[in-house]
Amino acid sequence: MEPTYKVRVCRGPSCGDETHSQRLAAEFHHLLEDRGLSQIEMGWHSCYGRCTKGPNVLVRKVGNEPTRRRFTLATQPLGRGAKATMYSHVITIVDVADIVTEHLEAGRIVRRLMERPSGRMQQPGQSKKDGE
Ligand code: FES
Repeated sequence: MEPTYKVRVCRGPSCGDETHSQRLAAEFHHLLEDRGLSQIEMGWHSCYGRCTKGPNVLVRKVGNEPTRRRFTLATQPLGRGAKATMYSHVITIVDVADIVTEHLEAGRIVRRLMERPSGRMQQPGQSKKDGE
């Protein structure tokens, strides 16, 4: 079965050693197995260079469309058709569950786990337009 999404959890010195991102990866594995989402490919990344915002998790959609590497990062606007989303400050198992339920199962970005260009995290119920 071809993967539909690739999920990469950072395990660099800050995300891994200081904030224990291996616990997040274990929770991703547990939820994906529990929900039968075997088409999601889990993996590690050494460091995204965003250590103060960690733990960071990249979710990338995999498909048959032509691949253009586009990231949805804090410093870039949310572009339509972006293939990858970087989540920051992924700390709790609720954060992991939201990524699995909303992004990987329903295809909706979890905006509260994305950092806005101002450097502030989006608050629940706040649209991107509200905080700019
Ligand atoms: S250690 Fe995770 S971004 Fe650097």
